[in-house]
Amino acid sequence: MLYIVLALLAAYLLGSIPTALWVGRWFFNLRDIREHGSGNAGATNTFRVLGKRPGSAVLLIDALKGFAAAWFLPNWLLGLGAITSENLFYYRLACGVLAVVGHVYPIFAQFRGGKGVATILGMMLAIAPATVGVAILVFLAVLGTTRYVSLGSMTAGVVFALLQLTPWFRPANSWQIWFGFALAAMLIYTHRTNIGRLRAGTESRVPLWGKR
Ligand code: G3P
Repeated sequence: MLYIVLALLAAYLLGSIPTALWVGRWFFNLRDIREHGSGNAGATNTFRVLGKRPGSAVLLIDALKGFAAAWFLPNWLLGLGAITSENLFYYRLACGVLAVVGHVYPIFAQFRGGKGVATILGMMLAIAPATVGVAILVFLAVLGTTRYVSLGSMTAGVVFALLQLTPWFRPANSWQIWFGFALAAMLIYTHRTNIGRLRAGTESRVPLWGKR
């Protein structure tokens, strides 16, 4: 039981690492990235405010947080004999979701983190990589046609959830379906200010290529 509590706590703390904030602070002398651009502590805003390299680094690390939480922590518990292989799947979901919660409400950054996109991506890559692959294609298609990252993220999240209802991507466990829809709902919630800007026509579009 102690190891399970430790793993769940580690998942939340891992997710809580405020990558965008710390990359800005440590490498660019930027006091708080949440005071710039969209005000979000995520990869998109890092691309927007600091450029491609730091943006890519934040995207990678934020995705790794979700992947590591959903993959390595449950495997560690299994190796210790703290959980059984029948339960492994549930711990992947639980640890992944706690990492996402940590990312959105980080203890290391006044509980004001990112919107969860990259960390959900990493978590779901550990759980349902094929479904994530299709969701990424949908994201790229929406981004390519509209140049709105937020719209691409929300659409990909909803498509991911819906794909699970199809015979080709139906998971063995129905819990994954519920978690998929819960995470899609969470993405829409965390993007509520983006939705307001999209409706008002003031959401910023990303250049598909640029100087940075
Ligand atoms: O990753 C979050 C993205 O979908 C939107 O970010 O900075 O444009 O609000 P941002």
